[in-house]
Amino acid sequence: MNKNNKAKTQVKQKQETTNVPKEAIPDKKPIKKPKHKTESIPAVKNHAQNYKKKSIKAIHPTKKQMIKTPKIVKNPNHKINKKTVKKTTSKKEKNTNILETYTILADNVKATVEIKTTETEYIPLYFLVRPQMSAATHAVLNTMRDELITMVNLSVKEFVDPSALTTVKKKFIKKAMELMEKYLPYATDKDKELLSGNLIHEMLGLGDIELILSDPYLEEIVINGHKEPLWVYHKHHGWVKTDIKLKNEDQVYNYASAIGRRVGRQITNLDPLMDAHLTTGDRVNATLFPISTQGNTITIRKFSRSPWTIIHFLEAKTLTKEVAALLWLAIQYELNILVAGGTAAGKTSMLNILMPFMPPNQRIISIEDTREINLPKFLHWVPFSSREANPEGKGAVSMLDLLTNALRMRPDRIIIGEIRRAKEAEVMFEAIRTGHSAYATFHGDKATEVYKRLTNPPMNLPDAFLSALHIIVVQYRHRRKGLRRTLEVAELIPTDTTNQLNVVYRWNPRTDVLEKIGKLHRVVNEINLYTGMTDIEIDEDIEKKAMILDWMIKRQIKTVNAVGKVIAEYYRDEKKVIEFASKNKNPSELLGDELTKELFSGEKP
Ligand SMILES: Nc1ncnc2c1ncn2[C@@H]1O[C@H](COP(=O)(O)OP(=O)(O)O)[C@@H](O)[C@H]1O
Ligand SMILES: [Mg+2]
Repeated sequence: MNKNNKAKTQVKQKQETTNVPKEAIPDKKPIKKPKHKTESIPAVKNHAQNYKKKSIKAIHPTKKQMIKTPKIVKNPNHKINKKTVKKTTSKKEKNTNILETYTILADNVKATVEIKTTETEYIPLYFLVRPQMSAATHAVLNTMRDELITMVNLSVKEFVDPSALTTVKKKFIKKAMELMEKYLPYATDKDKELLSGNLIHEMLGLGDIELILSDPYLEEIVINGHKEPLWVYHKHHGWVKTDIKLKNEDQVYNYASAIGRRVGRQITNLDPLMDAHLTTGDRVNATLFPISTQGNTITIRKFSRSPWTIIHFLEAKTLTKEVAALLWLAIQYELNILVAGGTAAGKTSMLNILMPFMPPNQRIISIEDTREINLPKFLHWVPFSSREANPEGKGAVSMLDLLTNALRMRPDRIIIGEIRRAKEAEVMFEAIRTGHSAYATFHGDKATEVYKRLTNPPMNLPDAFLSALHIIVVQYRHRRKGLRRTLEVAELIPTDTTNQLNVVYRWNPRTDVLEKIGKLHRVVNEINLYTGMTDIEIDEDIEKKAMILDWMIKRQIKTVNAVGKVIAEYYRDEKKVIEFASKNKNPSELLGDELTKELFSGEKP
């Protein structure tokens, strides 16, 4: 019997002796009496050492024993200041450069993140520094954990239904607080909250990973088996190595199956690859040894908590106002757009920020594998997401099923999260041919490559089909610098036999500018055909749109709904919005109280 099965059998056996549903029992050998060893979170080495030295005398620790107030584990001499670049020397590491420090919070557990470079490592290190528990407190927590499992009666639904997780957490925290009263009468409320948060992370969640999941600067979290520390992809520093290690392969497996259980998926030896989506929108992939030959792996791709808008993109210099205004115009007049790019280049985000440029009087249907698109409430929008088959192989609803169905729902515009298969591409182009406008993302590093991939096997779309596509926008991610830029904006110009790609804008990596390197032909011609606007009028329209965007930057109008409102108002009364922008007026009159209030809550890191 291998380890994983063994862990599962243990859980099963325990289940028979308690009346808690199977799903309610965490895989982590829950009922065992606390042992005086590796229960500690490996990152906190000091604590593990403490633990060995002391024997547990008191099960009711005194107030003093309980929590050592927040203590910087590795580096006691620096201030917790955001973005300080400071040289400090600790006993072990010479020439440690602190690149950045900040605090994060999850379920009342607060921690400080320190990112530093050291002489011995080639990449920055990510330290998670949090209040440490004394050995005695730890022992009490273990006892409480056992009691908590039997106290809180959870229905199977509560565990399987992802939306119920918040309720489950509340239930646990409430009971945990009650137990704290009993076992830790001297603790302050704050400490109790912290401890129950810790307990919840261990029991329901992913331990320390719950904490770093709440770090807004992280994009990816990867576990490559238990021998290596966790790696994370940081918005400011790229790949960095953390000081967090999992205990053993079983723990990696337990986390993977805990994630699976939350969303009704399983990972087993017979089905060792799992792709799941957390309730938070984060995407998780897990693989088991020996398929992943070095050990069990988990890859978490974090979903951006506060959605991007065009204004964030402009501020981050992802694209220019001029290009944004051009794309706005293209969307206004129903030109079809494909957003391309490599993995995690920002394709979906780009698609998402462009879609609010649609007029509110049109019916929009979006189709995705995972719900990522988030549109302003002013739009007439019906979102769909596909579903995988259940373990019996039933109930699957594919992107293709949804796409075919969408065409029967009289949409004006169709958004397709990502085109992966030939069939999806075919249906998309069929939709375009039958008079809908369509937007999608597609994998490809350059416009030319996108075209090649679409016209060659396995996609094999005929050139005549592709001529319905007007614009390809290519997103690019500089992995080392963590930059995201629009690399190319190209239009497709149909010729007698094929289509020509006319790259109008291209990013210059030396100057970091999205330069205009060509002239628009087809886009201008088509808009002229639809509207009768002359070249000059089109240019003026683009300038006005750019001015509105500029005003939105100045006035920090960057929540999804506020941006949506300005655009909706633009379609209702263009002159009014242009006047607001040209006079740099206060937007509150246009936005109304609610959206004005919302404006400053949509901060992105
Ligand atoms: N312009 C941008 N600037 C900074 N970060 C971005 C930008 N676009 C996307 N991101 C971030 O990059 C990550 C991947 O973005 P996503 O749109 O899902 O990529 P893709 O669809 O290409 O895989 C997300 O964490 C997202 O928040
Ligand atoms: Mg995507």
